[in-house]
Amino acid sequence: MIDKYGRELTYLRVSLIDRCNLRCFYCMPHGALNPFKEDEILNEDEIVTIVSIFAELGIWKVRLTGGEPLLRKDAVNLVSRVKKIAGIREVVMTTNGVLLKHFASDLKKAGLDRINISLDTLDRENFKRITGADKWQDVLDGIQEAVDQKITPIKINAVLMKGVNDHEIMDLVDFSVKKRLDLRFIEWMPTANEILEVRAGRFMSADIAKKLIEGKYNLIPDDENPHAPARTFHLEGTQTKAGFISPLSNVFCAKCNRLRLKANGMMKTCLHGKEDLNLKKLLRQGDSRNEIKKHILETVFNRPEEHFLNSPEVPHNDFVMTAVGG
Ligand code: 5AD
Ligand code: SF4
Repeated sequence: MIDKYGRELTYLRVSLIDRCNLRCFYCMPHGALNPFKEDEILNEDEIVTIVSIFAELGIWKVRLTGGEPLLRKDAVNLVSRVKKIAGIREVVMTTNGVLLKHFASDLKKAGLDRINISLDTLDRENFKRITGADKWQDVLDGIQEAVDQKITPIKINAVLMKGVNDHEIMDLVDFSVKKRLDLRFIEWMPTANEILEVRAGRFMSADIAKKLIEGKYNLIPDDENPHAPARTFHLEGTQTKAGFISPLSNVFCAKCNRLRLKANGMMKTCLHGKEDLNLKKLLRQGDSRNEIKKHILETVFNRPEEHFLNSPEVPHNDFVMTAVGG
């Protein structure tokens, strides 16, 4: 599967559910949330069918995400079924970790290859402020359980927020070194319009975090995966890699190899672009696998070249992260 700019698509991110058990202020808009209804969301079989179609088109890596993927009762089943699809080599997950201590062992048994856990702070009170919930200890327990079950390498994701967690950057690094985890600092991207105001004045470039870490560690470039949006470095003398994801200050669209499937069956060929194809509709109206493939190939071919988030003339696309998958 290739687009008109010559980029090959090999990675599919599947949002299993748009609901979440946290309310991180950088992610969730205030006010009424309108989560998808049960029958709007793809069921287990539909997800497996769609992924198997993508696998025949060249997708070999799948990330299950959310919202919070572990809120779905069939999350473990999905890992195990997706992992068995011919052509799928890697199944990974992004979770907020709150429920992870209950599922880590089953996820490992189901064949989960790796896991990314969101953790923006090591301070319980700060966690409450950011997420609206007193669940910091649950996340830490979840991380420990993932370590014990060896779902490795484990990556910690931290969104950088000026005045919120910028004073904790080295604490997060030291924690990751001590626990032998990898970690990534992510620039706060503009998503739903309601959040833009909260974001104003709190954006922080990943380079600032990198410079800070360089004060303590020698950073050795590690470019294992040329398609990864993170610029990754090995912290010399440790088992830890630190990544910096800078969609705004360092556009990586030219190497982007990913497609996204929303929980409601809409496919997106760019996180910041429009919804491109309604796969649920095609599936539920009984289109054949070949017909669905034709639609996918055509849509993928026409995917946008860049997100243009830095261009003031192009309005940014208003979307809620939990519905698309972080
Ligand atoms: N910018 C950057 N990262 C975000 N996430 C959620 N919203 C944003 C945003 N606006 C990330 C969280 C989480 C993952 C699911 O998505 O860090 O790790
Ligand atoms: Fe926070 Fe992730 Fe839930 Fe968004 S989806 S509210 S970032 S835990």
